[in-house]
Amino acid sequence: MRSRFLTASVGYGPLVPLYAQLARWYSGGAIPACQHWAVDEVAPGARVLFAGPGPGTDVLRAAQAGLRVTAVDRCPVMLAATKRRLQNAGVAERVELVHADLRQHPPAAEFDVVIAQFFLNVFPPDYLPQVLSALAGYLKPAGRLIIGDFAPLVDGGRCWQQRYHDLPMHILARFGANARHPVHDLPVYLNKAGFQLLERRRFRLFSVGPDWIEGLVATPGTN
Ligand SMILES: C[S@@+](CC[C@H](N)C(=O)[O-])C[C@H]1O[C@@H](n2cnc3c(N)ncnc32)[C@H](O)[C@@H]1O
Repeated sequence: MRSRFLTASVGYGPLVPLYAQLARWYSGGAIPACQHWAVDEVAPGARVLFAGPGPGTDVLRAAQAGLRVTAVDRCPVMLAATKRRLQNAGVAERVELVHADLRQHPPAAEFDVVIAQFFLNVFPPDYLPQVLSALAGYLKPAGRLIIGDFAPLVDGGRCWQQRYHDLPMHILARFGANARHPVHDLPVYLNKAGFQLLERRRFRLFSVGPDWIEGLVATPGTN
């Protein structure tokens, strides 16, 4: 499965029209809440890069909030869905859409913020240092990386929390969209990559359930 992830072009195709709705249902609103939180963290006028915007619901929110937005995705079908969403809202001209692999696209350290929502879980653990270093390369020195993703496992809920993560990840892995891997402990990877963690924010499934979705704000360190 891992080699398929490494070699195949990303295959979200048939899932794209349903993707945002499925994420909303599966998390009982926690994923869109985390996406809204990330955009609301950013000051108006800031230059923002969306890493892997997928269907672009948060890109639209950012454009409507007056942020200066670039969105880079390697899946052309996802990018087309984002474009349609922006066009339907009449804000397409406010957003730069780039079809590229973020790791290979030449980074320019010109962004105040990089937003990576449910992006890092695409990669297997041994890729994370390279991906985090690529994201850091897009940030101005005092810039911030804002992440939304599955929260690290906590003792007690380990079994169900792992299953909750694995169900969508294993289905999407069949389409070549992501690697199969354990739940990433992203604060640990951020720390190892030289980021300083500024904020952690939990989001509860269905508002009252377990807080298995996490938002993180980090800044690249000086080391
Ligand atoms: C799990 S989806 C998340 C989409 C969206 N950010 C969200 O929160 O719903 C991951 C997205 O990252 C994109 N992606 C994966 N690897 C990428 C890469 N190396 N460069 C750019 N985009 C990538 C995929 O095409 C997909 O749109």
